[in-house]
Amino acid sequence: MQRVMRRERPVIAIDGPAGAGKSTLAAHLARQFGFVNLETGAMYRALALKAMEQAVALDDEMALLELAARTQIVPEPRPEGNRVLLDGVDVSRRVRETDVTEAASQVSVHPKLRQWMVAQQQRIGAKGGVVMEGRDIGTVVFPDAEVKIFLDADPEVRGNRRYLQVGPGQRPQEAIIRDLKERDARDRNRADSPLRPAEDAVILDSTSKTLEQVLAAAEEIVRRYLEGCEPGAAGEISEESSASR
Ligand code: DC
Repeated sequence: MQRVMRRERPVIAIDGPAGAGKSTLAAHLARQFGFVNLETGAMYRALALKAMEQAVALDDEMALLELAARTQIVPEPRPEGNRVLLDGVDVSRRVRETDVTEAASQVSVHPKLRQWMVAQQQRIGAKGGVVMEGRDIGTVVFPDAEVKIFLDADPEVRGNRRYLQVGPGQRPQEAIIRDLKERDARDRNRADSPLRPAEDAVILDSTSKTLEQVLAAAEEIVRRYLEGCEPGAAGEISEESSASR
């Protein structure tokens, strides 16, 4: 008879669209509960950067897959901020720039490339004790994650937060919101692993919440799980927040 192996420590899956605050939330939960924080978007970004540097077309799935096979991407969680190493080089800052952000969005639509990423992410998180953040963690990478949070917010609010983060004057606010909506559409409408909440995810809508409220709500969800309770039914928190809008 096959023995089912359980992880000793949980996987906390944080999914949601760009600019919802996933990274801040994931870092906070990892710190609070002593878990490793793994940012999967940085992996897509790093490969996109290498494709740009080596002039590999972003719509050529097979070429991207070949490129991936000779690439080492190491997401490095650190308390002072996550790093990502591309073939041993720290590209953490570079991958945040606008051109790589756009390229990563295009790279991430390819199913075979996603399989390659997912296999790595599953290996990294296999033992649990991780907060893994992305778009498909609760649906594809760890559909059996012990806690799943889908962090959402209205696009205008997310765009505005991004604008303040990038630094006023760097790029017009309208351009940031427009790009964000385009990436949203690509994430939500791609054929493979589209962005959507897992059926058993708790949906946290941060549109009308302060950062502190979001962090506290998520902390409570994880704490309830760790204390042996169910993390809550999907939609529970979103209904409460949309009612208060
Ligand atoms: O979270 P982020 O903005 O750093 O992600 C960069 C890109 O990678 C974004 O366009 C969505 C994509 N992505 C994905 O498709 N699946 C993931 N698990 C993480 C990111």
